[in-house]
Amino acid sequence: MKNKLETTKKIALAEIKKADSFDGLEKIRIKYLGRKSELTDVLRGLKDLSNEKKKEVGELANKTREEIEDSIKYQVLSIKQRELSGLDEKERIDITYPGEKIEAGHLHPITQTRYMIEEIFKSMGFLVVEDREVEDEFHNFDALNMPQNHPARDMQDTFFLKSGAVPRTQTSSVQIRYMEKNKPPLKIVSSGRVYRNENADTTHGFNFHQVECLMADKAGKITISNFKSVLSEFMKGLFGKNVKIRLRPSYFPFVEPGFETDVSCPYCNGKGCRICKNSGWIELGGSGMVNQKVFTSVGLPEDEYEGFAFGFGIERLAMIKFGIDDLRLFYSGDLRFLEQF
Ligand code: DAH
Repeated sequence: MKNKLETTKKIALAEIKKADSFDGLEKIRIKYLGRKSELTDVLRGLKDLSNEKKKEVGELANKTREEIEDSIKYQVLSIKQRELSGLDEKERIDITYPGEKIEAGHLHPITQTRYMIEEIFKSMGFLVVEDREVEDEFHNFDALNMPQNHPARDMQDTFFLKSGAVPRTQTSSVQIRYMEKNKPPLKIVSSGRVYRNENADTTHGFNFHQVECLMADKAGKITISNFKSVLSEFMKGLFGKNVKIRLRPSYFPFVEPGFETDVSCPYCNGKGCRICKNSGWIELGGSGMVNQKVFTSVGLPEDEYEGFAFGFGIERLAMIKFGIDDLRLFYSGDLRFLEQF
């Protein structure tokens, strides 16, 4: 009996050692430890043995079972281990391998320019405000001293909606909206979309952006020199310390006197180049001292307040800033262009 158990154990251990799958091991377990196994038979037959033999054979049988169980456990571990190290080869992770770049979008260059402008004005204590894009004729024209049939309305080709509303042709409407609710002193800047019924070319679009600035206070407190210093800070903030500004007399119904506003070309320092068409100067847009009619149209008394205002095209500012010669590129949706910002 003893020998028999010993032999069975040897065979079982050898089989276990050769097993290379969990399935295989399970079969071996059933064969040597299961209900129909030799070992179970031996244990069942114990009751027919003498007390002395019972003890001896019982101990041996139990020991044999333990050894087989241990050996199976050990083999389970080594199969697992082997599988894991196989994984290691198949799915090796090289932590030194350069990662794949995750492409993230960014703000459109026009939005970037708007934010830069707003930051410059905030640093000078201006309030950034916003208002509607679809206006009525009063806020877009009449209140800005451009009544119906005024020839100045021809300066701005206008889209009219069936309702009579106007997609604003200028951000100057924000001056009116703001002063209807707030009396001077005030320092505001507002940027946003405007709409013109124009054919698009390299420097014009039917939809573009303007930045409007208004600073007003009690009469006598704000002069053209205040305007020039704010303008100069603005231009230096956007284009660099070396730029100069220039005002030329011009006409806009909502300012008196009115100016065309120029900045010296930041590319050639005013010497003349392709960007400034050899003139050394680049035109930015209109500006001037607020016409008293603008104050009275929002219900403020005449001659009590004074201020300056300007309205520049943001696409134009961005074109100068980034050295771009065709405005249509901004709206082409061409990623090769946009990704450069
Ligand atoms: N709104 C004018 C335009 O679109 C630009 C402008 C001129 C705005 C003079 C102003 C200003 O605030 O004072 O052409």
